[in-house]
Amino acid sequence: MKVALKVNGVQRHVDMAPLARLLDALRGPLGLTGAKEGCGEGECGTCAVLLDGVPVNACLVPIGQCDGREVVSVEGLGSIEHLAPLQACMAEHGGAQCGICTPGMLIAAEALLRRNSDPTANEVRTAIAGNLCRCTGYERIVQSILHAAYDLRSSDKGAAE
Ligand code: FES
Ligand code: FES
Repeated sequence: MKVALKVNGVQRHVDMAPLARLLDALRGPLGLTGAKEGCGEGECGTCAVLLDGVPVNACLVPIGQCDGREVVSVEGLGSIEHLAPLQACMAEHGGAQCGICTPGMLIAAEALLRRNSDPTANEVRTAIAGNLCRCTGYERIVQSILHAAYDLRSSDKGAAE
């Protein structure tokens, strides 16, 4: 099946079986290995991407359901040269240790901050509830996301003045 989808703002095409997983399309023909395979069963969140702005576990999404839709993977948030505030805060405040959960955490946090620019710590914890981390104890991740939210609000305010 030929599938046309926008990935990180660029129109792309893949030709795969309709039940092939979005995760395999990303990591295979689309060449984007940021989304990781942890459990492969929808339990860990390390494969998370935004599909039409909604966080989904790419290991559970058939590519056949992605035709005409828009995917944002962690590569779409920023780059090594230009880290997004979420990425910079995760690095600066110790939110990433081994890094396996980090792409999914960033996607969950991005989805949260798009709809709520000033979340509470509990709202952050709820937003990342589907993302497992075995290294950090979560608190540094929560603090990193709160710092990023603050930085984004400050830069928006600065831009408006
Ligand atoms: Fe998709 Fe774990 S690999 S949720
Ligand atoms: Fe290692 Fe989260 S930093 S699993």
